[in-house]
Amino acid sequence: MSEKKTYYITTPIYYPSGNLHIGHAYTTVAADTMKRYKKMQGYDAYFLTGTDEHGLKIQKRAEEAGKSPQQFVDEIVAGIKDLWQLLNIDYDDFIRTTEERHQKVAQAIFQKIYDQGDIYKSEYEGWYCTPCETFFTERQVGEEHICPDCGRPVQLAKEESYFFKMSKYADRWLQFIAENPDFIQPETRKNEMVSFVKQGLDDLCVSRTTFSWGIPVPFNQKHVIYVWFDALINYISALGFGTDHDELYQKYWPADLHLMAKDIIRFHAIIWPIMLMAADIPLPKQVMAHGWLLMNDSKMSKSKGNVVDPVILANRYGVDTIRYFLLREMAFGMDANYSEESLVNRMNIDLANDYGNLLSRTTSMMEKFCDGIVGAPGVGTEFDADLIALAKETPVVVASYFDKTDLANGLAAIWKLINKANKYIDNVAPWALNKAGEKEKLQTVLYNLAEVLRLVTIMMSPAMPNTAARVWQQLGVTAEQMGNTWPDLTWGKFPSGITIHRGEALFPRMDWEAIQKEMAAEEKVEEEKPQFEPIGPEITIDDFAKLDLRVADILACERVPKSEKLLKFLLKVGEEERVILSGIAKYYEPEKLVGKKVIIIANLKPRKMMGIESKGMILSASLGDDLELLSVEKMIAGATVG
Ligand code: MSP
Repeated sequence: MSEKKTYYITTPIYYPSGNLHIGHAYTTVAADTMKRYKKMQGYDAYFLTGTDEHGLKIQKRAEEAGKSPQQFVDEIVAGIKDLWQLLNIDYDDFIRTTEERHQKVAQAIFQKIYDQGDIYKSEYEGWYCTPCETFFTERQVGEEHICPDCGRPVQLAKEESYFFKMSKYADRWLQFIAENPDFIQPETRKNEMVSFVKQGLDDLCVSRTTFSWGIPVPFNQKHVIYVWFDALINYISALGFGTDHDELYQKYWPADLHLMAKDIIRFHAIIWPIMLMAADIPLPKQVMAHGWLLMNDSKMSKSKGNVVDPVILANRYGVDTIRYFLLREMAFGMDANYSEESLVNRMNIDLANDYGNLLSRTTSMMEKFCDGIVGAPGVGTEFDADLIALAKETPVVVASYFDKTDLANGLAAIWKLINKANKYIDNVAPWALNKAGEKEKLQTVLYNLAEVLRLVTIMMSPAMPNTAARVWQQLGVTAEQMGNTWPDLTWGKFPSGITIHRGEALFPRMDWEAIQKEMAAEEKVEEEKPQFEPIGPEITIDDFAKLDLRVADILACERVPKSEKLLKFLLKVGEEERVILSGIAKYYEPEKLVGKKVIIIANLKPRKMMGIESKGMILSASLGDDLELLSVEKMIAGATVG
């Protein structure tokens, strides 16, 4: 028996610097769809995704959050995995670059390239964009010193670094591309990459010394490996490359497809192949860049704040609706504009109207006219040949698009058949055949419709895996009866004689106006929720012990003349009397505070306000516009608090 053909597909590994948005989700949904499709074509398909956890950006974010980098990424990675589960992403492995299995391989490859003289030590002086983790030349950042990729300011970096001799490989790379014209997809990106390399390749700075969150250079622990050099290696470290357990590497490498958005094609199409050439490892078969998901005509990205949370959308509209929308809207290699209204339109037209109606019209006619039994086809109508011809042709057309990873056109071809079947119902008017007692014709027509439903549902299943299962369940048939591979898409395989049941609408229509009103109401509730301040950075017990907190009696209290905010307190703390000013005039009538026992910071450095010296601070609790002084009832003035 011959071995199954293999198919290895990857997504970029994501930076766990915050939650992912639906732009990120697109790549992963597309890769998942390709894996499922290839399996249906009989491939042994393997799908890798993961997270890219090193670098200055992550280190900084962790510091801001008052966490260790590892703790910081662990929490975000857990959320990313939950998102993939929610979106029904069937990956085979999830690699994290902080895992030992990855670090060892990255170090070994760095060492090998160094040993053969293609990595050398020098000094880097140039510009660095931290959000993109990318080095740029003076020319690239221009006079304003702006990152050419993301438009944010770059920082000057000057440090001892190791360099990778990319320049040495430029001619070999150009020759490889000439011999493998399909390596970079789409063609426009290939042309960009080729002209970039033809302008001359600089050597790449591949280590950093000014921060520590990275994989140490094996022979010089002062340096960490440049995060992109580290990250790209994930595609083979996950397969156990260079270890005693490299079965997956032997089976699946070279990868069939590295899929990503156009912003990181340069790393995958130039740097990664040259790294592999230097390390004497076979190159992947293809790298493909899709476009960006845009919001109001600019790239959806966290830094611009124009992101959409896939979890909210999936909960509102269903996972398969989101998957369908993303895949259908993003034309091959092009950018696509996102709007929730267009999502609702797609759902109402393509899913509820076209597909949902075909399903409900067919099943209701079957119940009405044939007790739900799908009879064998016999003599039909003049409209059958056309429908059957398209139904036979469609799996071939869809496969031709899916094989090129052109998922949008593949789905469009499925919908062409759905629409044809809806028109077929209008043309043959089964209700008229029923009235005229044309039993055989009616049975044939309904068989044809059931068969089209079977075909389209199977073909859309890689993109919408939940839908097929729901449809079969609703009809009371099993996936085995219906088939779930591409060869099962031959016309006429619907098993006649089985009874099907009518169910509820799979994709109910939704009213965009009503959704907007609901969202506005939800936002209002959200606004009315208390807005808590985030918990501050961690301190030690020693830090806390520096505060001397005491109970103080309010002996007198009055407004500070000419100040709207300040109250002047005369307080008794133990034997001592002191004055403290506090900006709480809008919350309390001064005379009502006399006699209260409050808590103060007694050892705060005195400072002058409105010409009066204030010796300490009175503690209060506040939330939004509310404020309340902290107080005790019985303790005597001067008692210690802590
Ligand atoms: N960590 C690097 C990748 C290393 S791969 C060895 C990285 N991570 S990322 O989290 O910033 O983005 C990963 C990918 O998310 C992008 O390349 C792209 O595939 C996808 N997208 C991010 N924003 C996107 C859109 N607005 N639209 C479409 N895809 C987008 O880069």
